[in-house]
Amino acid sequence: MADVTFDYGNLMEVEGGLTERDLDGVASRLQEAAGDLLENSYGFMRLAKTAEHATACKEIAREIRGFGATDFVHVGIGGSALGPMALQRALNHPYYNLLPDEARRGPRIHFAENTDPNSLGAILDVADPANTWVNVVTKSGTTAETMANFLVIRGALGDSGYGDRTVFTTDPEEGYLNRISAREGIRTLSIPKDVGGRFSVLSPVGLLPAAVGGLDVDALLRGAAQCVDEVEAQGAEHPAIMGAAMHYLMDTARGRNVRVMMAYADALERIAAWFVQLWAESLGKEGKGSTPHGAVGTTDQHSQVQLYMEGSQDKVIEVVEVEEHPRDLTIPEAYEDLDGVGYLGGHTMGELLNVECDATRRALTEAGRPNCTIKLGAIGEENLGYIFQALEVQTTVAGSLYGVNAFDQPGVEAGKQITYKRMGRPGY
Ligand code: PA5
Repeated sequence: MADVTFDYGNLMEVEGGLTERDLDGVASRLQEAAGDLLENSYGFMRLAKTAEHATACKEIAREIRGFGATDFVHVGIGGSALGPMALQRALNHPYYNLLPDEARRGPRIHFAENTDPNSLGAILDVADPANTWVNVVTKSGTTAETMANFLVIRGALGDSGYGDRTVFTTDPEEGYLNRISAREGIRTLSIPKDVGGRFSVLSPVGLLPAAVGGLDVDALLRGAAQCVDEVEAQGAEHPAIMGAAMHYLMDTARGRNVRVMMAYADALERIAAWFVQLWAESLGKEGKGSTPHGAVGTTDQHSQVQLYMEGSQDKVIEVVEVEEHPRDLTIPEAYEDLDGVGYLGGHTMGELLNVECDATRRALTEAGRPNCTIKLGAIGEENLGYIFQALEVQTTVAGSLYGVNAFDQPGVEAGKQITYKRMGRPGY
């Protein structure tokens, strides 16, 4: 069972926070939005219970392992990269690629996301071309950044056998990857037509790299399915859906138009980055949408908390807290005669992290700074599956409350058109 809870108490208890009256004011629209979510059978709501994706991904992962691959390069950007990167960062060793082969659960994993030649060149410096597998992920099958990264990697791997060690993850029919696949016989994994990039982490987009990295994709889907079941049972009462109303109101009725997700675990840093894209690209339309921002505790206590405590009253701080960290270290007793050092001895690092998390939350509350908490029992596949699903639900419902289409991104088109023209793409 996933163990994830949401606490919005400090959005109501702080001075100037939300009131029951605010919530009553959006109650009927929230009901309608929850009804729309459940009636529309959105693609992202079905992924958790679609076992065929996990089966196909596990099979390819087994083949990659059986081949003795040394490196796996995941090529993709935006929604085709952020989820996979978040999973890898959260659930595998932070220095995974540096571990000896026998300590890893698969090949080294690299992400070719940006078009920065320095980053791509660095992957090519360390990957062994004869034993590298490539997973090119683009829903549209046209994204310039992904295609360019793919072409450079393909060139570096050379013609011989590259196709046997390549997987395309894309739309079932559309786009250039399907055309290349038809020519070269490259195997493909499908992203369902009705699942957009930033809602696709529980499709083959996230499942293949997770399986290659030895993660438990079934547990990931189990956690997400639990969330879907709970949303279906509870409707507008589900905390993820309630949260949509809370964040919407904090922005539109209280002027708190910055939503900070501050994770108290380094491993969750990229979960916040994944969420930032989900919220920003889904809701930032027609002059609406609050600005998401990712932060990490305790690190950003020494960087941004000053601003959160005493800066403009324009923020909601959403703390992500972990009860049991994947490992802990006891702080040795030493320098007991020095007051400012000796007191740490005998405590654990996990305890310190969680005490600081609670201290920051209390300090924010006492300073009248609205905050809320997502608490995970532990960092594991089931809990992350639950969180991905819950935040996708929340973003979709928030889209309904704002009155915007959460599933398109018209604002990124103009720059693409100019790029195509400048780079000489025919027809632009
Ligand atoms: O969420 C989205 O739809 C976008 O962020 C896309 O994922 C991103 O633009 C990459 O698109 P594609 O997967 O088509 O290459």
